[in-house]
Amino acid sequence: MFLKLHNIYAGYEGGDVLKGIDLAVEKGTTTCIVGPNGAGKSTVLRVLSGLLKPRLGEITFDGRSIAGLTPRQILALGIVQVQQSHSLFPSMTVQENVRLGAFMLHDSALVERRLHEVEEMFPIVKTRARDKAGSLSGGQQRLVEFARCLMLDPRLILLDEPSMGLDPRTFKQVVETIKEMQSSGRTIVLVEQNARTGLSLSTNGVVLESGRVRLEGPHADILNNPEIGHLYLGGTLSKA
Ligand SMILES: Nc1ncnc2c1ncn2[C@@H]1O[C@H](COP(=O)(O)OP(=O)(O)OP(=O)(O)O)[C@@H](O)[C@H]1O
Ligand SMILES: [Mg+2]
Repeated sequence: MFLKLHNIYAGYEGGDVLKGIDLAVEKGTTTCIVGPNGAGKSTVLRVLSGLLKPRLGEITFDGRSIAGLTPRQILALGIVQVQQSHSLFPSMTVQENVRLGAFMLHDSALVERRLHEVEEMFPIVKTRARDKAGSLSGGQQRLVEFARCLMLDPRLILLDEPSMGLDPRTFKQVVETIKEMQSSGRTIVLVEQNARTGLSLSTNGVVLESGRVRLEGPHADILNNPEIGHLYLGGTLSKA
């Protein structure tokens, strides 16, 4: 298994938010985590990217244990995250922000090649290269954040609510971008508030509720599960 979480407990000062999470992700698949607000979806991604250390449990990535590594060490292994909130440096230019995605690379020819690749994929990186990132709309910033994360040629991409707050056109572009990343064989773990869209895009789905995995399986199984209907309406699942 490419990525595996076993019995993960993690949280903040108020106590555990994740209460024994198990998750298995195969290489080249997309896993969508859905669930109500506060279920712990972003916390799962924070644990994976090293921003939060699990209190208990084990995480293996490509055969090595990564629980407790620093965010930088995890990034060096090729795990990148696009955060739920916007994360570009607003007073730096678009291109400077994108180049930051490659700060770990020391091969300048490689950086130029990657920059060229992401410019092809996201024209805005070229057309607005010298504009301050803060002058872009929220949707445009989201595309630049995707471009920045691809500069590292990541092996695992963590996307936290990539479609949140986007206008319909940028939303479509984000969906297309995710599909492109999938067809180039990338492994993605996605958190999506828009559960139907997220699950439809994904290979597998995981329903989190109160820090526990409530349901998991191929995306169609989750979409067709009658109990999950509540989730689409933004409520919690019925108590079984
Ligand atoms: N930095 C923090 N310090 C303390 N508590 C936090 C922190 N971040 C999140 N929490 C709490 O942990 C719980 C889970 O939060 P998390 O952000 O993982 O939920 P989520 O499923 O991503 O929700 P949403 O759909 O609103 O993004 C919530 O109760 C939240 O208030
Ligand atoms: Mg969240």
